[in-house]
Formats: sequence, C-alpha cells, structure tokens
Amino acid sequence: MQFDKPIALAADHGGYELKEVIKAHLTEQGIAFVDFGTDSAASVDYPDYAAKGCDAVLNGSCALTILCCGTGVGMSMCANKIKGIRACCCSDTFSAEFTRRHNNANCLCLGGRVVGAGLALQIVDAFLNAEFEGGRHQNRIDKMMALENR
Ligand code: RB5
Repeated sequence: MQFDKPIALAADHGGYELKEVIKAHLTEQGIAFVDFGTDSAASVDYPDYAAKGCDAVLNGSCALTILCCGTGVGMSMCANKIKGIRACCCSDTFSAEFTRRHNNANCLCLGGRVVGAGLALQIVDAFLNAEFEGGRHQNRIDKMMALENR
C-alpha cells in the first residue's frame, strides 16, 4: 500500500519497544512515518500519546495512526474518545484487515506485552494493506459516527 501521507506512530513505555520494531519495518518497506514518542522505556501516560497520534490524523498531516501500549487497550479506549477516530485494538490479522475494510478504522492499537514482534508486524501489514470497501459499510460508519453526538 502506498500512502500520500506518513503513518503516525506513538507509544507509551509499555509499547515503546514495539514502536521501534514497527519503525524499522516501515523503513524497510519505504513507508513514511512520523514518530510522536515516547522515546524511551521511562514511564509516561498513554492518553498523552494517544492524543498525539490521533491529532496527526485529524489535522490531516498523517494518513493513519498506530498506537502501542502494554495491552493496546488503554490506547484504544483513549483514541475512541476522540471525535473522528475509529480505533481497533488487534491481536490478530483478520481483525486488523477487516477493521479497515468494514469499519474504515483510522487507528490501529497494539499491545507490546500481548503480541510478539513477528505477529505485530503481520497485524500492521494486514491493517496497512487493506482498504475501506465503502458501499453498504458507509451507512454503518455514518451511524457509528453519529453515536459521537449522544
Ligand atoms: C502501563 O503500565 C500500561 O498500563 C499501559 O501501557 C497500557 O497497557 C494501558 O492500557
């Protein structure tokens, strides 16, 4: 998949190592990214980094965001509270592919303490290589986004 904008990456300390692995993988594939931190294994608060990655998508500077924390769950909870973000915490490639194809997800969350590097990179590839199918799914996305106003 070729993107006209970079991929936004962000992690807390629990996802820091995985983020570094993903950076190397994207570099190998010639996929541009922006790293919004964190820059070490020192403890930080994952909501701060979820916001950085999501803001980059919402302001149009990045195509998609990939967020890593210990479980991926905290990042996904934060991301899904931000209007305009559709985040999926994935530990399998099928979900990663179909959250793009059917849910038009713009945020992938991964748990650095849950998935190993090999599986995580397969999940990243499944997510980045899939495209939203539109059609009958668009109406469902419209209904999903309307839930933000409840
Ligand atoms: C940090 O210890 C951990 O709570 C965080 O990385 C994440 O797993 C939260 O959901």
